[in-house]
Amino acid sequence: MTELLRVRDLRVDFGAGREAVRGVDLSIGRGETLAVVGESGCGKSLTALALLGLTPPAARVSGSAKLADTELIGRGDRELRRIRGDRVSMIFQDPMSSLNPTTKIGTQIAEVLAIHTSMSRSARLRRAVELMESVGITDAAARARQLPHELSGGMRQRVMISIALAGAPDLLIADEPTTALDVTVQAQVLALLRERTRDTALLFITHDMGVVAEIADRVAVMYAGRVVETGTAREVLESPRHPYTAALLRSVPDPDRPPTGDLPTIPGQVPAVGERIEGCAFRSRCARADDECGTAPELSGDGHVAACWHPHTGTRTEVA
Ligand SMILES: Nc1ncnc2c1ncn2[C@@H]1O[C@H](COP(=O)(O)OP(=O)(O)OP(=O)(O)O)[C@@H](O)[C@H]1O
Ligand SMILES: [Mg+2]
Repeated sequence: MTELLRVRDLRVDFGAGREAVRGVDLSIGRGETLAVVGESGCGKSLTALALLGLTPPAARVSGSAKLADTELIGRGDRELRRIRGDRVSMIFQDPMSSLNPTTKIGTQIAEVLAIHTSMSRSARLRRAVELMESVGITDAAARARQLPHELSGGMRQRVMISIALAGAPDLLIADEPTTALDVTVQAQVLALLRERTRDTALLFITHDMGVVAEIADRVAVMYAGRVVETGTAREVLESPRHPYTAALLRSVPDPDRPPTGDLPTIPGQVPAVGERIEGCAFRSRCARADDECGTAPELSGDGHVAACWHPHTGTRTEVA
């Protein structure tokens, strides 16, 4: 598989030792979906925003992110604006924050086309309706004349997907795109994303292991600004190596086992950004931790890698 995105030692630093992303490596092939998963605050969104040059002004970004041969880190605003939408685009959790509440849906899609194509105004509006149809919006011509609040959450997210894909980007980033949707609509939107990104690399951010199972080819588990485990979805979900991954999996229902009442949560807290981390960042919450964990473990393994001195070796059922 051709590697399309290659991220190396990506860091996002807010100054005075407040490093929120602490050296992330990722890679995604064409047509592949990588799910980035981890608890709130572990640096998933900042990692994605860094790829688009959209981190907050106070953040200093370093490292490398190559999309094919294009380096994304350290680019000027003008270049990044050209790359965004054309080569990389992003879908956020809440489409209302990305859509203009007072502009008709069709006009908003046409405006995006104006940036990326040389189509005439009427051609853009026709294309906007086609794009809406292509993401399964029925009665698209009438819908195109409606305002965002007149559409359901699922419909709005479909609109965002059509906008994100309008410029035929190589890489689509989706940051918790279905969290606000109910389960049935979530499944439909995931199916649509899967189908529409067959030839596009998809970086899918979620904290939901159930969603990971549905969409991912490969998984990167993040903890405290680092990737602590990566592998195929099957490897990571069925035989988690890192105790953190195993704990995340314990907190979602196992479809193969009867429900056993309340799901356990992981005791303790993710270290705050700027908190001094010595050794493995997970060690204060980890049942397997010992003195060795005072030294930070590197990712190790073959293909399926984990940063742990005492990784699990069994299947999910055995480690749970
Ligand atoms: N402008 C900022 N200044 C300082 N710290 C920040 C800033 N923006 C984000 N952070 C911190 O960086 C950390 C990582 O944030 P990020 O949004 O990437 O987390 P996340 O994994 O996406 O979490 P969630 O699942 O809640 O979306 C958080 O602890 C957050 O408080
Ligand atoms: Mg986030």
